[in-house]
Amino acid sequence: MQSFTYSIPTKIFFGKDQVNVLAEQIREFGGSRVLLVYGGGSIKRIGLYDTVTKILQSNNIPFFELAGIDPNPRIETVRQGIQLCHEHKLDFILAVGGGSSIDCSKVISAGYYYENDPWDLMIGKVKASQGLPLGTILTLAATGSEMDFFAVISNLETHQKIGLGDPVMFPKFSILDPTYTYSVPHNQTAAGTADIMSHTFENYFSSEKGAYLQSRLAEGILQTCIKYAPIAMRDPENYEARANLMWASSLAINGLLSLGKERKWTCHPMEHELSAYYDITHGVGLAILTPHWMEYVLNDSTAADFKDYGVNVWRLNSEDDSYKTAHLAIEKTKEFFTSLGLPSKLHEVGIGEENLLVMAQAVTKNGPIGEFRHLNTEDVYNIYKAAL
Ligand code: NZQ
Ligand code: ZN
Repeated sequence: MQSFTYSIPTKIFFGKDQVNVLAEQIREFGGSRVLLVYGGGSIKRIGLYDTVTKILQSNNIPFFELAGIDPNPRIETVRQGIQLCHEHKLDFILAVGGGSSIDCSKVISAGYYYENDPWDLMIGKVKASQGLPLGTILTLAATGSEMDFFAVISNLETHQKIGLGDPVMFPKFSILDPTYTYSVPHNQTAAGTADIMSHTFENYFSSEKGAYLQSRLAEGILQTCIKYAPIAMRDPENYEARANLMWASSLAINGLLSLGKERKWTCHPMEHELSAYYDITHGVGLAILTPHWMEYVLNDSTAADFKDYGVNVWRLNSEDDSYKTAHLAIEKTKEFFTSLGLPSKLHEVGIGEENLLVMAQAVTKNGPIGEFRHLNTEDVYNIYKAAL
C-alpha cells in the first residue's frame, strides 16, 4: 500500500429531516447572504425548494437564485453565478440537486476569487487560491460530488468536458436525506448506479496489490449497488434502498477506495469525451463503455483481478480457471446494466463512427491513460469501436 494523507473535511448530515441543520450550518461557515443553485425544477416538484427557502427566510438569510443548471453543466452558467455573487455581495453558495448543480457551484466558488475567466481554472492555466464556502443538499445518488473536491464542467463550443480537482472545492457540509431521491426516475436511478459502480471500478482495478482493505471495501460498495438498485427501481420509496445507494455514492469517490493506490482513471476520461461531443448522460456512457473496457484489458496479467471480482462480488465458482471466471464476471456486469434498462452500445444513444478517432486522440492528448493497463490512442479507439 502506498503512503497517503487522509483528509475528507466535508461534514455529512445523513438521514430524514437533516435539513433542519441548514441555517445553523450556513452560519457556522460564515454565510449571511446565499447563492441558491439548482437545476431544472425537480426540487420544486418534490417540495424541497419550499422547505429550503422557508428555512432561509425564517432565519433572515437573504438569497439569490441561479436556476436551470443543465445536466453536464456549462461554463457559461458558472460565469453567471460568479457575477451574481459579486453583484449581490453573496458569501455562501448552497447547491440543491445532483452532481451538475453541485459541480457548477464548486467552480463558482473557486472562480469567485479569480479575476479572469473561470475556464482558465478548468484548463489548468491557473490554480484557485481559495473558494467561497459551499454547502450541498443532495437529491440524486450518483457522482459523489457531495463529498469530494472534483467538478466537471462542459464547454460545448470547444467540445470539451473537463474535470478539475482542488481541495478548495470540498463542500463544507452536505445534507443527505434519502427521501429526496424517492422521485429520481428509473433512467437516472440506473445511470446513477452505473456511475457509482464505475467510480468503484476505477479504484478497484489497480496494479497496486497491497491495498487489500480498500479492495474489500470496494467489493462491498459494488454488492450494495447490485442489491439495492433493482429494489429502488421497483419500489422508488424504499428508504433502505435509497439510503444505501446514497451512502455508496459518497463513499465510492471520497478517497476511501483510492487511498494507497495510484489514481489514474480510464472509463471516465473516455466517457467525458462522449458527453462533450454528444451531451449524453454520464452514467449511461459509463454503462456502455465499462464491459467493453473490461474485455479489452483482460489478459494474462489482469485475469486474476477479474477472477477476484467474479468470485467476491458475483459469487462465481472459485475453482474455475481465471479466464472463464473473468469472462463470466464481465458478462454479469453487462447483464446487470441491461437489467436496469441501460443501453450496451453507443449506436443506441445516437453515436456513430464519425468522431471516434478525434475523441480517442483527445482522451490521450497528454499520453496514455490508466495504470491498471495503460491505454494509448489506438487502444481507446479500439474500445470505442467495440462499443459501437
Ligand atoms: O435539473 P433537475 O430538474 O434537478 O433534474 C435532474 C436532471 O434532469 C434530475 N434529478 C436530480 N435529482 C432529482 C431529479 N429528478 C427527480 N428527482 C430528483 N430527486 O436528474 C437529472 C440529472 O441530474 P444531474 O445533476 O445532471 O446528474 P448527476 O448527479 O448524475 O450529475 C452528472 C454530472 O456530474 C459529473 C458528470 O460528468 C455530469 O456532468 N460528474 C461529477 C463528478 C464529481 N464532481 O466528482 C464525478 C462524476 O464522475 C461525474 O463526471
Ligand atoms: Zn462518474
